[in-house]
Amino acid sequence: MSKLLTLENSLREGLGSQRSGVPCSLVIFGASGDLTKRKLVPALFSLYQKHLLSTSFSLIGTSRSQLSTDEFKHRLKSALDEKIPGISSALWESFSQNFHYLPLTGGFNNLADYQALSKLLNDLDQKNDTLGNKIFYLSTPPEVFEDIISNLGRVELTREKKGFSRVIIEKPFGHDLASAQMLNQKIKNVFNENQIYRIDHYLGKETVQNLLVMRFANSIFEPIWNRRYIDHVQITAAEEIGIENRAGFYETSGVLRDMFQNHLFQILCLVAMEPPISFEANAIRDEKLKILKSIRPFEEEELKTSACRGQYGGGYLGGEKVVAYREEAGVNPLSTTPTFAALKIYLDTWRWVGVPFYLRSGKRLAKRISEVAIQFKEPPDLLFKNNLQAISPNVLVIRIQPDEGITLKFETKVPGMAFEVRNVNMDFRYGTSFTVGAPEAYERLLLDCMLGDATLFIRSDEVEAAWEALMPILNYWETTSPQEAFPNYEAGTWGPAMADALFVKPWRKWRRL
Ligand code: BG6
Repeated sequence: MSKLLTLENSLREGLGSQRSGVPCSLVIFGASGDLTKRKLVPALFSLYQKHLLSTSFSLIGTSRSQLSTDEFKHRLKSALDEKIPGISSALWESFSQNFHYLPLTGGFNNLADYQALSKLLNDLDQKNDTLGNKIFYLSTPPEVFEDIISNLGRVELTREKKGFSRVIIEKPFGHDLASAQMLNQKIKNVFNENQIYRIDHYLGKETVQNLLVMRFANSIFEPIWNRRYIDHVQITAAEEIGIENRAGFYETSGVLRDMFQNHLFQILCLVAMEPPISFEANAIRDEKLKILKSIRPFEEEELKTSACRGQYGGGYLGGEKVVAYREEAGVNPLSTTPTFAALKIYLDTWRWVGVPFYLRSGKRLAKRISEVAIQFKEPPDLLFKNNLQAISPNVLVIRIQPDEGITLKFETKVPGMAFEVRNVNMDFRYGTSFTVGAPEAYERLLLDCMLGDATLFIRSDEVEAAWEALMPILNYWETTSPQEAFPNYEAGTWGPAMADALFVKPWRKWRRL
């Protein structure tokens, strides 16, 4: 069978089969934090409602907060009620009957706590028949990742004597290349790579996964998906929100670490990668890795014209006044942390040589919208010279969120006696084509981890290659002042005007969204 047929078959199998979770215990470190109540528990609840959570499932929350199991459950229930009103007590009771809370007594580095955890896991295994399967979810500040992992190793919870032992690690994975390499090394001291699930919630988004299906389950795109037909690609992740009480994290992170190293680079990989030889995790990750490695290294001189940074000032969003980044609680009033970045990237591959990829992301922009736009080359403008409007190039827009869907923009004749040409849209909308809503990203990713499917998780070499590509910009920005004094864009706009300078050719410009 040809490789492409194998891929097509595995796409069909992967898509068609209904999968449900296996017996296991999920241990969440940092369980009193926001992620557990905002994302993880709602995702588990949704799996439960769809009968995709095994009846032999236990949840253990652990963190430094000194809570009882009842208090922990009460917090989760209140948060869930806000998201999904009307959950009956009976339903909640049956969903949460195997939830437990274990307070840490001495921070994250006290062996006795891990011994207690090991004992609790054992007891629950006997009681709920979880077959010794366990998943550790690290939803803590990254500073304590190493402590948690090495202690899990010390009490041998990382060993797969009976059942599986997996670890899910939240971003940020490292602060730069050196720290990511170090963290990888530390984790690999106690876990094998196939036990490690580095999460990027963008990969759990239905529309991001659909990039693979759109490209590789259709035959019309492949022949034109290259430098001969594509003029350039734009990837946008625009947010209306600011930093939302996360000054501590954001001040030391900034937009490149927060959005580019992971989410935007992963989307770039899915748009640009070669067809994998199968739909299996490592086959896909091998291809993504090649893209990350093909990012042309940024020379210092080039950085002035290929990378633009910005920081929001005060402004208006949805009619409400919002403060400047420097005025947010916990932010240094002279901070030079970028909240916006735009990059022009070239991939040195046979398929993409010469095709620029423009990536932009920022906080406090005019609209929340994430999309990929593939702009095709202009047709030779010979036949319609007298058209009042210039012929516009075809654009294929993949809307990641909101209003998920795909639009193809193409030229058409305006009805009438004249020969006027104008562009129109051919549109696919998830909302109108499907009656079922898309599952939340975390729902999909938790289930995949339970099933041992690492396709939508990031491998160690990918993380490192992404950091490696970003390091020249991070180093340059951290050692030089911005070309324009910060703040250089008003909240509620599309970022600094300077970002337009990334485009040299007159027919290329940022899409107006
Ligand atoms: C997170 C970033 O990873 O992604 C946040 O840390 C950002 O700063 C968020 O707001 C965006 O996710 P989504 O799913 O809302 O696009």
